[in-house]
Amino acid sequence: MVLPQIESVVNGESDMVANMANIAAILHETFGFWWTGFYRVEGKELILGPFQGPVACNRIAFGRGVCGTAWERGETICVPNVHEFTGHIACSSKSKSEIVVPVWRENQVIAVLDIDSAEYGTFDEIDIKYLEDVVKTMI
Ligand code: SME
Repeated sequence: MVLPQIESVVNGESDMVANMANIAAILHETFGFWWTGFYRVEGKELILGPFQGPVACNRIAFGRGVCGTAWERGETICVPNVHEFTGHIACSSKSKSEIVVPVWRENQVIAVLDIDSAEYGTFDEIDIKYLEDVVKTMI
């Protein structure tokens, strides 16, 4: 599992950008996702953070797209087919399924982890559980 590897990299490092960068790299390299990265909460929008993969949109408003919806709801959203998610923001036409996991600190969502797959139905309950554990390593 990649969780021990992520824990060992994140442990002892307090800088969130460094941790987001290494987590994105480990997940992306290990699983071969299409796009793996973070959006950071800044005021009323999400701003692009460290990521691996093709160029992505810079800013996403609260409640918009899968990312903004996961932030608004404060819960992980797993989308088996992005074409069936109303309001999905298509940064890349290759993206077919997606998972977005909120990152919490002191009862507030401070970022989201966003992963896109070029295949349909990539993410399931096990991914939800482990990715929620992954983002907890940063707290
Ligand atoms: N699809 C996301 C936008 C970000 S990109 O996938 C990197 C969304 O709907 O929020």
